[in-house]
Amino acid sequence: MDLGGDFLVIGSGIAGLRAALSLAETGDVVILTKADPRESSTGYAQGGIAAAIGPDDSPELHARDTIAAGDGLCVPEAVDVLVREGPRYVRELIEWGAAFDRDAAGAPALGREAAHSVRRVLHARDATGREIARVLGSRVGGSPRIRVVDDAAATELVVDGGACTGARFVTTAGERGTVTAHATLLATGGAGQVFRETTNPAVATGDGIAMAVGAGARVADLEFVQFHPTVLSVEGAPRFLLSEALRGEGARLVNEAGEPFMTRYEPAGDLASRDLVARAIVREAERTAAPVYLTMAHLDAGFVRRRFPTIAQTCAQAGLDLAHDRIPVSPAAHYLMGGVETDLDARTSIQRLFAAGEVACTGVHGANRLASNSLLEGLVFGARAAAAMAAPPRPAALRAADVFETPLPTAGAGPVPDTYAVRDLMWRSVGLLRAVRPLEAAVARLDAWLGAVVAAQARGHCDEPLRRTATLVTVGWLVARAAFRREESRGAHFRTDFPSRDDLHWNKHISDRLLA
Ligand code: FAD
Ligand code: SIN
Repeated sequence: MDLGGDFLVIGSGIAGLRAALSLAETGDVVILTKADPRESSTGYAQGGIAAAIGPDDSPELHARDTIAAGDGLCVPEAVDVLVREGPRYVRELIEWGAAFDRDAAGAPALGREAAHSVRRVLHARDATGREIARVLGSRVGGSPRIRVVDDAAATELVVDGGACTGARFVTTAGERGTVTAHATLLATGGAGQVFRETTNPAVATGDGIAMAVGAGARVADLEFVQFHPTVLSVEGAPRFLLSEALRGEGARLVNEAGEPFMTRYEPAGDLASRDLVARAIVREAERTAAPVYLTMAHLDAGFVRRRFPTIAQTCAQAGLDLAHDRIPVSPAAHYLMGGVETDLDARTSIQRLFAAGEVACTGVHGANRLASNSLLEGLVFGARAAAAMAAPPRPAALRAADVFETPLPTAGAGPVPDTYAVRDLMWRSVGLLRAVRPLEAAVARLDAWLGAVVAAQARGHCDEPLRRTATLVTVGWLVARAAFRREESRGAHFRTDFPSRDDLHWNKHISDRLLA
C-alpha cells in the first residue's frame, strides 16, 4: 500500500496531533501510528501541563525553574520559546474544549509539582493526557485533510539526495508500503521501553531515534534519561506511575519505620527535583534494607480519592487504599531528554526531516526535565514544526556541539539477544546510578549484540521481531555509549565514580552521527 500526501507525521501523541492540525490548514496530511491512535505516552500523562498563567507567575519565573532543573544544559532560546508561547497553546486547548479542573472562582486550578516555585500545572484530575488526547484526537478525526493510518509502524526513512521524502512502513497485518511526502515529522515519543523498569507504554521503543540515526541524522544528549522516583512497586502489579502531583498535594515519602526521610538527603525535601528524589529513595532503601513508601494517610481521604481517582483505582487493584495505606514505590525510567537534534523550528540535520515532542532534542530540558513541561513542549514545538514544514526548505540552525561520528559495529558471530536481555542490561548497568565498569561492560555487550543484528540482517533476515530488537539494541547502545563518555554527574545522569558536576570539561551538548 503506497500513500502520498503533502506532509507525513509519524506518531499520534500530543506533538504529532498538534502538528497535523496546523499542517491540515495548508495541505494533505498522513499520520502513521503503530498501534491504536490513542496509545501513546500522552494518553497516560497524569500530573498535568505547566504554563505560566497564574497571577503569581510569569514566563520569566517558569524559565528560571526550567533552567534550574536542567542543571546548566538548557538551551536558553528554546526555554524562552517554551515559556512564552506555551500559555497561548494551552488557552487554545481550553477553547477547543479541554476540561481542565477549575478552582472555586472558575479559573483553571493550578497544581504544584517538584521544583516549580509556584502552582502552575493545569490538570484534569490525574488523567490530564487522556483529556488532551481526546480533544486533539477529535479535531484530527473531524479534519477531511488528515488521514490516520493506524496499526502501521514506520520502519525506515526514505532519503533521496540528502533530503527526506517520506518513510516505509509495515502494518500489524504484515502489509508493507511507503508514504511519500514533501516534509516528514518524527513525533514517535520516547524510549522508556529500552529499560526493564519503566512508566512508558509498550509503544515507547525509541523508533524515531533508530530511524533517524539509520538515515544519518544527528542525535544529542542521549545520556540524559529521567527516572521518575515514584512508581508503584508491588510484585505482580504493573509499574504504574504515582504522579508527582501526589507530593504536590502533600503526600510524603517515608521509610519502613514510617519516618519522613527526604530532608536527610535534600533541603527541598519531598519536592526536590526528580533526579534528587529518585536517588534519595534508592539510598534510603539501601540504608534501611527495606522498601520506601508514599503516604497520604494524614490528608483528607475524600479529597485524595476525588483528586486522584485513576491512581486510587489502580492502587485498589493492587489491594492498597491510596488514602490510608502506605504505597510501596521505587524509581523507573520515565523520559528521555536527549533525542533527534533539532533547531527551534524542529528542523533536523537532514533536509525536510523534522522532529518534535519527546523524540526531539531541542535542548529545552537540558540535563533534567521539569515536571509537566513535556506536554507543553509537544504542543509548542509541534505547532512550530508545522509552520516550518509548510515554509520553503532551509537548513537547520543546529547549536554548536561536539559531534562524534561512529560507524555501526561490524557483523559479529554471537546470538541476537531477546529484548528482555537488552532491557535488563540497560536497567542494571545504565540506570539511575552509573559507574565506569558496568558501563564499559554494557557497551561491549551492546556492541556484540548490534554486531549480531547486523549479521542477521546481512543474511537477509528482515522479520518484524528482528527489527524491533534492532531498534532497542541501537537505542540502548547509543544511550550506554553516551553515559560512558560523560565523566561527570549532571541532572539525571549520575556517575558514582564522578559524583560532581564538572563545568570545565562537560558543560556542553554532545551529538552522535552514525556513518553508513
Ligand atoms: P507520545 O505521546 O509518546 O506519542 C508517540 C506516538 O508515536 C504514539 O502514537 C506511538 O504509537 C507512535 N509511534 C512510535 N513509534 C512509531 C513508529 N515506528 N511508527 C508509527 N508510529 C509510532 N509529561 C507532562 O508534561 N505531564 C505529565 O503529567 C506527564 N505524565 C506522564 C505520565 C506517564 C505515565 C508517562 C509515560 C509520561 C508522562 N509525561 C508527562 C511525559 C509525556 O507524557 C510525554 O513525554 C509526551 O506525552 C510525549 O508526547 P509525544 O507526542 O512526543 O509522544
Ligand atoms: C507526573 O505526573 O508525576 C509526571 C509528570 C511529568 O512527567 O511531567
